[in-house]
Amino acid sequence: MTQNGRIPFVDLLSPHRELESELLAVFKTALETAGFVGGPMVDEFEREYAQFCDAKFCVGVSSGTDALRFALLASGVQAGDIVLTVPLTFIATTEAISQAGGRPDFVDIDARTFTMDAERLRQYVQENCAFDEKSQRLVHVKLQRPVTAVIPVHLYGQTADMDPIMEMAAQYNLAVVEDACQAHGAEYFSVKENRWRKAGSMGHAAAFSFYPGKNLGACGEAGAVTTNDDALARKIRMLRDHGQAKKYFHDIEGYNGRLDSIQAGILRVKLRHLTRWNEQRRECARRYAELLAGVEDAIRVPHSPFWSRPVYHLYVIQVADRESIRKDLAAAGVDTGIHYPIPLHLAKAYLELGFRPGDFSQAERAAGSLLSLPMFPELTTDQQHTIVGAVLQSLAVRESAGPA
Ligand SMILES: Cc1ncc(COP(=O)(O)O)c(C=O)c1O
Repeated sequence: MTQNGRIPFVDLLSPHRELESELLAVFKTALETAGFVGGPMVDEFEREYAQFCDAKFCVGVSSGTDALRFALLASGVQAGDIVLTVPLTFIATTEAISQAGGRPDFVDIDARTFTMDAERLRQYVQENCAFDEKSQRLVHVKLQRPVTAVIPVHLYGQTADMDPIMEMAAQYNLAVVEDACQAHGAEYFSVKENRWRKAGSMGHAAAFSFYPGKNLGACGEAGAVTTNDDALARKIRMLRDHGQAKKYFHDIEGYNGRLDSIQAGILRVKLRHLTRWNEQRRECARRYAELLAGVEDAIRVPHSPFWSRPVYHLYVIQVADRESIRKDLAAAGVDTGIHYPIPLHLAKAYLELGFRPGDFSQAERAAGSLLSLPMFPELTTDQQHTIVGAVLQSLAVRESAGPA
């Protein structure tokens, strides 16, 4: 419990208390060396994080949004290109598409994993597109625009089903940028390769966010792109630094999108604990599932297929009467979240794309019924008993009251 007696949704105080002296040492080094942007702390973090992800390269950038934008630009997305993603994600995914000059379009999610339904991706291509042999591009026939990239989102810490997505990408010459902003350390079993793969090592590039509340979080804004492609890594290094590989030799126009040295130093300290923290999150998820067993009719707990080893950035249940349960939990001192209440195709920001309710029914159903319970490595067994007790109590009250 926090000082005010509530169970917080996420605990950003405990890990910083635990690591305080090491984190302060990072600030001290930065002050003593005046190394604030770039330098050894960034280089070392990049090397260590690439290794953590089983990727050849990591390029530190200023946020997950920039990581997505730079990865798309470096992958060759041109103004007006269609980039496919899912409607159930944080808006940064589609913002990055628009900022790279692309036009977002959507493929619905799988009802159980909440990640991109690869079968619907195939349908999208078959029903809307033709492959132009001359340009070697997939073209959306009605919109007369090329479809050049796809962003599978590894939502809540669970990867998308990558094998079929990568297979289609190879078939239709699509760049795949994993949105791994919620999936530091998540793993996917590739049947095709008969081995476990890390999030961030499967697509042509992958974007990570180190926003403070993430499984690996900075003490401010930070992000990274991982890739196995040398040319892509070089291009992203230029894009993050005003288009220069050498000071004041600007080969292209870029951005100010670098990773601060202090944040890189902080991330290095925290990275050493990430595997343990992810294991603690998994333990919390196991305990939630145990405590919630027996009410499957009323509550759906997260589903992990055989190919997934999630890292539970969020622990998201599905309930029919979300608002009442949420209110009862708040009254019992338990903070919760909703990720996300409005699927992006129905967000005001995308009105001009012309989508309507019913267009992506799985994402809409999920958006109306998902509830995120507290999830962080330090969550105690007692706290989980309190949380689940309050959920069950709320259900019982509603059941005994009968249908409205
Ligand atoms: C799925 C997803 N994509 C992209 C982002 C963007 O990351 P950032 O906030 O670091 O720009 C986030 C972060 O919240 C996210 O959860």
